[in-house]
Amino acid sequence: MSTKNFRKLLADNSFPRVVTAEIAMTYDGIIGIGSKLLYNIPQDMERFVQNTTGKIVVMGRKTFESMGCKPLKNRFNIVISKSMYPEHKRDTETNTELFVCANIANAINFIEGMSSWKDRQICIIGGSQIYKMFENYIDEWHVTVFENENEQTILDRFGEDIRPDIVRFKPLLQLMNDNNLTVHNVDRMNPNNVKICFADLYRTIEEDMQ
Ligand SMILES: NC(=O)c1ccc[n+]([C@@H]2O[C@H](COP(=O)([O-])OP(=O)(O)OC[C@H]3O[C@@H](n4cnc5c(N)ncnc54)[C@H](OP(=O)(O)O)[C@@H]3O)[C@@H](O)[C@H]2O)c1
Repeated sequence: MSTKNFRKLLADNSFPRVVTAEIAMTYDGIIGIGSKLLYNIPQDMERFVQNTTGKIVVMGRKTFESMGCKPLKNRFNIVISKSMYPEHKRDTETNTELFVCANIANAINFIEGMSSWKDRQICIIGGSQIYKMFENYIDEWHVTVFENENEQTILDRFGEDIRPDIVRFKPLLQLMNDNNLTVHNVDRMNPNNVKICFADLYRTIEEDMQ
């Protein structure tokens, strides 16, 4: 699907124009080891919850599995997979929906018929394959950067054996250059001696947003 077609799909179905992404990474683009995140930092998790609650979150099958196959509460969870059986599940008590499909268009068309979800923002939450799939459509990246980590520090800490398990997206500077992103808000902190930087990166070229 081209960028314009995805935007047309959203526009035709009255979805908000802006698509966001949540990602936590090292400067050199590492986002996970095997099925695990690099760090579990409460401040990062709080930010993730705040940025995604009440919205439509889109993830790949491996990320869904890394969450124990449990959809996130108070969100409409779209899981993209060719190997999983397509399904829709609802938990009204927790306001949680799960929609498994091989193509996001199926989910968007389905949500369009649901008055409670159809005007909600779309957030891409990973992992690497899904960021790559939607990269050209994402207008705002909410990035957590682990400032003191990189491939070498990770290998030093966990040993060379984990090298094949390293999951990477792309280096931060390359992500910014490829997508004409500029830095807006930046917030640095040092919880439990982990230097992290929360940054909001916005797409500066509007041509694809028409
Ligand atoms: N740091 C972060 O912010 C962050 C966020 C999320 C995840 N992660 C990490 O990222 C890692 C997982 O990322 P990943 O890239 O390995 O996997 P992923 O993107 O979560 O999921 C990959 C799966 O998505 C499905 N998929 C991909 N392209 C597709 C297409 N064109 N059509 C249909 N289905 C498609 C396939 O599922 P099928 O094989 O079932 O077809 C594929 O195996 C984990 O380590 C996780 O902890 C990190």
